[in-house]
Amino acid sequence: MRKLSDKIYSDSCACIPGGVNSPVRSFPGLQMTPIIAERGAGDIVFDVDGKSYIDFCCSWGALILGHAHPSIVSAACAQVARGSSFGMATPYELELAKKIQQHLPSIEKIRFVSSGTEACMSAVRLARGFTGKKKVIKFNGNFHGHSDGFLIRAGSGVHELPNASSSGVLPELVQHTISLPYNDIELARACLQSYDDIAAVILEPIVGNMGVIIPSREFISMLREETGEKNIVLIFDEVITGFRVGLHGAQGYFGVTPDLTCLAKIIGGGFPAAAFGGRREIMDHLAPLGSVYQGGTLSGNPVAMVAGLAALKEVEKPGFYEELERKTTEFLKPLRPLCNVQQIGSMFTLFVPEYKTLFRKLFDQGIYFPPLQQEACFISSAHTEEHLKQAQEVCKEILLTI
Ligand SMILES: Cc1ncc(COP(=O)(O)O)c(C=O)c1O
Repeated sequence: MRKLSDKIYSDSCACIPGGVNSPVRSFPGLQMTPIIAERGAGDIVFDVDGKSYIDFCCSWGALILGHAHPSIVSAACAQVARGSSFGMATPYELELAKKIQQHLPSIEKIRFVSSGTEACMSAVRLARGFTGKKKVIKFNGNFHGHSDGFLIRAGSGVHELPNASSSGVLPELVQHTISLPYNDIELARACLQSYDDIAAVILEPIVGNMGVIIPSREFISMLREETGEKNIVLIFDEVITGFRVGLHGAQGYFGVTPDLTCLAKIIGGGFPAAAFGGRREIMDHLAPLGSVYQGGTLSGNPVAMVAGLAALKEVEKPGFYEELERKTTEFLKPLRPLCNVQQIGSMFTLFVPEYKTLFRKLFDQGIYFPPLQQEACFISSAHTEEHLKQAQEVCKEILLTI
């Protein structure tokens, strides 16, 4: 019984389309009232009815430290008291920029924005402005936010839409987007060699939006080589993987240097911050230095910047990622014989044909997985051994019966 949740959801449906402000929150296809969250603490989310859930969604990967981590709470509260927005440059942008550059040296210059959508959209505009070319190659099932040019064969919530696209997107706006099968080396190479008008290749270098999928090293290296030879901007969308799969992201994992990188989620410490950055000569095409326009009232917002800084100071502590991976590997160990488990670091997917049943049964027992199998699960540093053990037992039991 979630009486208050039901009431708030049905009232919300009357004034907010689908009752939510982002489609995946509505538990698409599950015919049940979604979580109406009231608060979070560590690895637990509480709904408005007082029911608690061990959270494996972690705000879609943003909360690598769990909910309400004390250093983020104190940094953000202190900044709010000093002023929450100036629309002016602050020292915190510089500090966060330097910290990101330290761990992702491919980012010689960076521009902060407020969402992953904005970061990817702006990176592609910049690539077009820099190269003077039109076409963009992306990959089926990768998700780069909801800007028009990307809504063709995308992952995440878009996966559920007819033709995996969106009405309202003019054919003219996707005519220069080519979407290819992910991890298909020969097809991508052939495509890169047959067009001479390609401005950018954008991809999730490790995918989180069709469940966790790790491509071959050869695929990533081939993209780097071919784009490098043809003045095509290689964009790594590390909105999920940045500071998740390790301090140096997927680019560190593969040892491949992209031209541009998109970041969001973890770099905002749970606040709306995102960024794109990369080679200096490309980034200097942005206004006010160059002719590619991009800007935003809340870009580099000081509360988000100090929260992001607090988060990065935690994840750079020695052993942080090793411990997260250890916990995740331990959690998944007994589940591996029961289903197809894909894991990298602290992100994973349990691939089962009956994902909806798995989700519902977990939910009934107070364990919150993302409502779609296309969305990755995440473990945070706040997940306790006790809660992981509890969730593991429940997962095992359910996987044995479905
Ligand atoms: C890989 C990737 N890129 C871009 C985005 C869009 O980010 P945002 O939701 O902040 O607009 C997402 C969102 O989940 C994502 O997973």
